[in-house]
Amino acid sequence: MTEPCIIVTGGAGFIGANFIQQWIAAESAAVINLDKLTYAGNPESLRDIAAHPRYSFVHADIVDFDVVAALLAKCRPYAVVNFAAESHVDRSIHGPGDFVRTNMVGTFQLLEAVRGYWSVLSADAKKNFRFLHVSTDEVYGSLQAGDPPFTERTPYSPNSPYSASKAGSDHLVRAYHHTYGLPAITTNCSNNYGPYQFPEKLIPLIILNALAGKPLPVYGDGMNVRDWLYVGDHCTAIRLALARGRVGETYNIGGDNERTNIEVVRTVCKILDAQRPQAQPYASLITFVTDRPGHDRRYAIDATKSRAELGWRAAETFASGIAKTVRWYLDNPDWVQSVVTGAYRTWLEKNYRDRGGR
Ligand code: NAD
Ligand code: DAU
Repeated sequence: MTEPCIIVTGGAGFIGANFIQQWIAAESAAVINLDKLTYAGNPESLRDIAAHPRYSFVHADIVDFDVVAALLAKCRPYAVVNFAAESHVDRSIHGPGDFVRTNMVGTFQLLEAVRGYWSVLSADAKKNFRFLHVSTDEVYGSLQAGDPPFTERTPYSPNSPYSASKAGSDHLVRAYHHTYGLPAITTNCSNNYGPYQFPEKLIPLIILNALAGKPLPVYGDGMNVRDWLYVGDHCTAIRLALARGRVGETYNIGGDNERTNIEVVRTVCKILDAQRPQAQPYASLITFVTDRPGHDRRYAIDATKSRAELGWRAAETFASGIAKTVRWYLDNPDWVQSVVTGAYRTWLEKNYRDRGGR
């Protein structure tokens, strides 16, 4: 009898690495991390559990059907949790091809491999198997001030190549449940923040630029709104969806923490002023720059269904989560060094060179 296990794809990324660490601490099954190790995948994020007997790593691409099918046949997981994706909106604007390849073709290939494996399981194992697809609130499009938050019934209206490719993957997952009966669940979550986030995303970018005395780039008027959720709370919701979610359903996950971008940036600056004071307040580095093309104005999540059906609650407030996050970046300069490579500097040059400062 083999040990119960799950396969996680994209587990060397921000949310995947947090999820695997939480899984090892809270669950008893083993976890196999299948990751391509793109620029966003960092084995350093899993250093603390790399030698754990219930953890193993497979360097592979979800597009590679044969490799994924062989891994499924060998490890016989009772669940696959799909985090693997290209995840940064600005990169999708500069180069959408990788997003279509991984998010759409990759999810398709993964679903095909999983369908082949699942379809020949015993009746019981078939019923208990889960494919959990980790998606985003961005598939619902953009809200205006005063609009009600996104529910699971909000029609899809993706606006960026990133969100369109995620929407495509969500539709494939839905179709594999509807057509083949694959026991799939999709979660749509709002903006995450916390330890191990790659510093191309707003919060870690602002922390690291501030510490380096560099401009803090705020797109447009800084009044775009995101709903921020601490990453550990997202990981808890995914574990609950796996254990208690109804197959074929989607679950919205959000923090009830709507903030304008400028508010978030000023909050980070205030925490740094207290923890790492410098001659000038960090907010003096704030620089308004040219907006992101097609920039969604507001996201907000109604997580009523996740609370009612999964019994999920966020443990962190924005105040507690952001304080922990800033502290983590201050306390982990080695991890920061491991991601701030030449390739990262090339990206900063590409994304910010022509934005100017207003
Ligand atoms: P990330 O960019 O930090 O990590 C992505 C991981 O996937 C990396 O480890 C990368 O190496 C791996 N990967 C990329 N292409 C791959 C491929 N073809 N095969 C195998 N592995 C591959 O992303 P994240 O922020 O951790 O997001 C994880 C998932 O959660 C994504 O699907 C994203 O759409 C979704 N999501 C993210 C957020 C957020 O705020 N970050 C919010 C909601 C949903
Ligand atoms: O909503 C969930 C999504 O959140 C996830 O699906 C994505 O994977 C994740 O990247 C995130 O997307 P956003 O585009 O909202 O996150 P980002 O951190 O890139 O930007 C947050 C907000 O800050 C957004 O309104 C753009 C703005 N911004 C971003 C950067 C990088 C700035 O003003 N300046 C910046 O330099």
